[in-house]
Amino acid sequence: MQNAKTREAYAKARSLMPYGVSSNFRYWGDDTPVISRGAGACVYDADGNEYIDYRLGFGPVILGHGHPAVVERVQQAIVDGTCFALTGEWEIRAAEKVLRLLKWPDLMRWTTSGTEATMHAIRIARAHTGRERILKFEGNYHGNHDYLLFSTAGAWPGSMGSRRSPIPVASTSGIPRHVTDYVITVPYNDVELLETTVARCAQDLAAIIVEPVMGNCAGITPVAGFLETIRRLCDEHGIVMILDEVKTGFRIANGGAAEVYGVTPDMATYAKALGNGFPVAAIAGRRAVMETIVPGQVMQGGTYCGNAVGVAAADAVLDMLEREPVLEQIAAQGRKLMQGLGEILSQAGVAHHLLGHGAMFGLVLGTDEPREHRDWAKTDRQRYEHLMLGLVQHGVMPDLDSREPWFLCAAHDDGLIDRTLERFETVLKTL
Ligand SMILES: Cc1ncc(COP(=O)(O)O)c(C=O)c1O
Repeated sequence: MQNAKTREAYAKARSLMPYGVSSNFRYWGDDTPVISRGAGACVYDADGNEYIDYRLGFGPVILGHGHPAVVERVQQAIVDGTCFALTGEWEIRAAEKVLRLLKWPDLMRWTTSGTEATMHAIRIARAHTGRERILKFEGNYHGNHDYLLFSTAGAWPGSMGSRRSPIPVASTSGIPRHVTDYVITVPYNDVELLETTVARCAQDLAAIIVEPVMGNCAGITPVAGFLETIRRLCDEHGIVMILDEVKTGFRIANGGAAEVYGVTPDMATYAKALGNGFPVAAIAGRRAVMETIVPGQVMQGGTYCGNAVGVAAADAVLDMLEREPVLEQIAAQGRKLMQGLGEILSQAGVAHHLLGHGAMFGLVLGTDEPREHRDWAKTDRQRYEHLMLGLVQHGVMPDLDSREPWFLCAAHDDGLIDRTLERFETVLKTL
């Protein structure tokens, strides 16, 4: 995957940064690509090779790389300075749009990344309830802080114990041992287990946090009644329900998964598509929960929270989403691609499943449809990786790992979808 300049650039990166990357998820081994620019739905490596991009920065780029309306708004903002340690006017302007598009929340706060958003959300939930433990689902990822980095899709199911009494597995060394005491893990989509677990420890639970669609495990969707059960249990036991909409928010609908599935959480976290690739995130919630934040009593803050660069980008994205049916168009293109991939695989006799939503869908190879992370582990991951590697070599770039969904943006037009399908068919024949 590396021609001369890319190889040289990556060698230099390796001499400067561990494994030559700024995030472990970006390491592809010795031939990790180095990207020099993006335009619309394509990215270009250091040698100028073009790739149709279905990773989109792991989801943020919703309008297209370097979208002119976003670039222009950010340029407009930055000439007046970006960081004032006081509320900026851009924050107010964009916050009004966030709440208008989402409809259900009363209040919101800006953060810079999804990690910060979920970290703060669980602190608010703990302060609100006076309880300490958090229930999360196996295969869900909520960012890089210690409190929720357990039993993510990177955990090997063999280490996670029985489904009836799951072991929370730390996804990294370096998390203090006792942090595990604060985490309870449950397999995704198992309503019965969820009910029995909550019945056992409800009085200790501050929050149940959930990815409404498994954006970090092949786009697996919630079975009917799963999100509704979380809502009901939270209501019955005074637990804060947190929807982690970092991947689904401003991507699968203007109102995110809360709108699509008709479930209203107490708090939700947003990032990624909100900024089209600029660093911006948000926590939104019901007034009673958000008003738990009180200066001097319950802390939420950060030097770059509400920074004009990210917030101006969000302002431009939200304008576009409000004015035009952008997300509907992206979803339609995604469904077209899903259908095309499905037909090619079926004609070749390859057992597969296409999961999720048009704007963010998963593809897994195998006969059984996964409903949770433990099922995903039984799919043919190696064959998938081979197929994707072939595609990358033919200028189409989904992630090599089937846990990571295919993401589409507004710039994936018919021509790019057709080209993707042609190349997919070619690569499949060569395997
Ligand atoms: C569902 C979900 N929550 C939280 C995060 C963390 O967001 P960030 O990478 O912006 O810190 C991610 C990142 O992929 C995510 O997918």
